[in-house]
Amino acid sequence: MVKVEFRIRRFDGERSYWESYELEAKRGMTVLEALFHIKENLDGSLAFRASCRMGICGSCAVKINDKPRLACETQILAIGKSLIKIEPLDNFRILKDLVTDFEGFFAKHKKVKPYLIRDVSYSNPVELLQSPRELDRYYIYTLCIKCGACYSVCPAAATRESYLGPAAMTAAYRFCADSRDRGKRKRIPILSEDGGVWRCHLAMECSEVCPKGVEPAKAVQMMRRSTAIEMIRSLFRRSR
Ligand code: FES
Repeated sequence: MVKVEFRIRRFDGERSYWESYELEAKRGMTVLEALFHIKENLDGSLAFRASCRMGICGSCAVKINDKPRLACETQILAIGKSLIKIEPLDNFRILKDLVTDFEGFFAKHKKVKPYLIRDVSYSNPVELLQSPRELDRYYIYTLCIKCGACYSVCPAAATRESYLGPAAMTAAYRFCADSRDRGKRKRIPILSEDGGVWRCHLAMECSEVCPKGVEPAKAVQMMRRSTAIEMIRSLFRRSR
């Protein structure tokens, strides 16, 4: 057992302040378990978000010692510090303590049409076959759990409210790169808007912090490429 101080950034709707709690951490204990321990034994007013407790739902992302991470996947002793600072994610409005407002984030996600779009309708279900190579083109991007870690470190999202952000653009690329999808022409005008692909600063921080190794920065660059190609094509179409 190791004594650890948890310094948590609290927010009560008006005031933001730090509050410290001490607890004995044992091997294997996660930051999320510490938060539950604090809530159940030391301070029932502490608010945080969690669901699956196994790195799947993405709801427990917080800043741990200045870096966005999943609380349920971060073991306390692996951090190797006797002081652990926990804060809500940056670039999101704070509702209470560690709970942030994801409404805008999900609205941006929805805006890029993150689903398969077909150009024909079928009266009966059909099987759309795909080769392993075709699957490889987008598989890594399906692993995004919408935790918001990438968005929280994005300098473009920090300075421009309308910026779609790395997670939404990763979702757009995931479907544009899918051989079964026919929605690229519908998504590209959305990604060409003021808050779209051209606003990315290439900071690459999003890929650095992604807990699932998704590489949103690469997806944004791939979407940029598709957008540029489509813009050139439409110029040619117009000049004919
Ligand atoms: S609680 Fe679901 S990812 Fe951490």
